[in-house]
Amino acid sequence: MELTQAIERRRAVKKYDTEYVISEADFRALVELATQSPSSFNIQHWRFVDVTDKEARQKIRAAAWDQAQVTEASKLLVLCADVKAWEKNPERYWNNAPQAVSEMMVPMIKSFYEGREWIQRDEALRSVGIISESLMLNASAMGLDTCPMIGFDQEAVGEIINLPEDHIIGMIIALGKRREEPFQHGGRLNFETVVVNNKF
Ligand SMILES: Cc1cc2nc3c(=O)[nH]c(=O)nc-3n(C[C@H](O)[C@H](O)[C@H](O)COP(=O)(O)O)c2cc1C
Repeated sequence: MELTQAIERRRAVKKYDTEYVISEADFRALVELATQSPSSFNIQHWRFVDVTDKEARQKIRAAAWDQAQVTEASKLLVLCADVKAWEKNPERYWNNAPQAVSEMMVPMIKSFYEGREWIQRDEALRSVGIISESLMLNASAMGLDTCPMIGFDQEAVGEIINLPEDHIIGMIIALGKRREEPFQHGGRLNFETVVVNNKF
């Protein structure tokens, strides 16, 4: 499928075919392609919690205003970010680069993030946002559907997935096959509204 078609086809889908189960091979292919996404200093803060446990899915649904897609979609992914990934063996992010590049980039990571908690968190959320869209478009290209979600109790879901202290949740994504077409969406802001010429 063309990228433009995948973009146009993607919707926040809430009603899923409960019989459909994504294969592990398709799931792996989907995630591996999404991990080609860009991230600041190539830190790749994203960590996906694939919630396969049925009881945990029910508990998350209860913590998410009983949104049906939480349990009805084939997969439920909690898209988390390691806020401290910048300081955890940063050499690994530049392993394959030429040595001169790696020697320049790795120390820059430390000087950019050390002591700047706000940007550590912003960056972690940026990374989750970018990979989430890659994942959703890739799913759309495969004829699959997704629903990004922030309508849930962060603390409760954090407890269910045993979220480490230095990680945050960016969003939850339900993944599966639509069982009916989503309603016409709210509409999009036009070009003139979203593009600012030189200055606000
Ligand atoms: C970060 C984020 C959080 C969202 N949270 C929810 C949610 O909790 N429940 C829901 O049904 N839709 C949720 N949505 C879906 C939006 O309502 C939807 O993307 C928007 O209305 C545009 O419609 P479309 O995605 O079908 O084009 C969320 C979307 C994003 C990006």
